Amino acid sequence: MLTVTKETDPDNWRAIAHQAAETLLKGEVVALPTETVYGLAACAFDPSALAKVFEAKNRPEFDPLIVHLGDPKDLVRVAKIPEEFQEIVSQLTREFWPGPLTLVLPKTTEVPDLATAGLETVAVRLSAHEIMREVARTAGPLAAPSANRFGRISPTSALAVKQELDGRIPLIIDGGACRDGLESTIVKPVATPSGVHLSLLRPGPVSLEQLRKIAKVKKVAATAGSQLEAPGMLSSHYAPATPLLMFDHPEDFVPEPEKRYGLLSFRGDPRDGYLDAFPWNQVETLSPGKGKLQEAAVRLFYSLRQLDSADLDAIVAEPVSTVGIGLAIMNRLSRAAHNLT
Ligand code: TXA
Ligand code: MG
Repeated sequence: MLTVTKETDPDNWRAIAHQAAETLLKGEVVALPTETVYGLAACAFDPSALAKVFEAKNRPEFDPLIVHLGDPKDLVRVAKIPEEFQEIVSQLTREFWPGPLTLVLPKTTEVPDLATAGLETVAVRLSAHEIMREVARTAGPLAAPSANRFGRISPTSALAVKQELDGRIPLIIDGGACRDGLESTIVKPVATPSGVHLSLLRPGPVSLEQLRKIAKVKKVAATAGSQLEAPGMLSSHYAPATPLLMFDHPEDFVPEPEKRYGLLSFRGDPRDGYLDAFPWNQVETLSPGKGKLQEAAVRLFYSLRQLDSADLDAIVAEPVSTVGIGLAIMNRLSRAAHNLT
């Protein structure tokens, strides 16, 4: 299959969004930009289009998709909101939609089992990206997982989508680099005797600190048990093909002779101890200078792709603080580091 990439600019993006919507309404899949990472979209109520998403990504059918709305009013088409969740859902959607927050809620019968991997819940979000929203308004709701092959690094540019899915999908809409660079935060409201709290299934650009201003939040550890609740919490996710290593202290790293190592550095500062540990063959710095977590998040997947294509034996990643979006950065890095294949 020929994969066409359409570039957008401030004058033509709406027309291109409508072409993408037409392609989707014909039952095809299209890669679209969002503010987090690029998604591979299909019409959420069309099971044969959903099957194409799983096939193009090589994604196992036990891993459910995220449904993207074009308008908050459409939430009731895909989710049933129990009385006890009404308040928290309206607070969260008011505060964070459109934006990088995904809610897991009981699903309506209209949502095909393939979209939710047979679960009784559906993951829903409303992207802040103008192209994704325009397409979702016209052809949505759209199911769209990240536009990478299963288990690989999410794409944050149209070029990265092409590297992942060339020849497997008909159309990529190029909306430029993604603003946030990490996948959305996923939360699930849970009723407890002391009230409704949020279960944090995946940390992301909406931080734990921000969520805690609204409700009690429980982090779900990425253990074997939690995979049932959030299959995307599989520890070997987001992995580059090159082994990724992490150490609590730089001195714990004992390089093997003759091996080529790359360093994923946070701020490129020798005082952090990693730059001096070994004559690095290749260094990618996430946020040179002061080291800003926001900038590091934006560049994380791009930098991992760069190192992954540099023919190295291993990549060493410096740890970052878990404050704010740092929690999501460390989550992606430690999951990539646990890749055993
Ligand atoms: O930022 C994002 O969320 C991007 C963009 C494209 O929107 N999408 C994304 O999708 O990251 P994906 O499929 O790569 O990750 C979706 C995660 C998976 O880990 C999946 O297991 C989880 O959401 N998920 C989906 N439905 C769920 C459900 N009903 N219950 C629990 N987890 C669910
Ligand atoms: Mg993904």
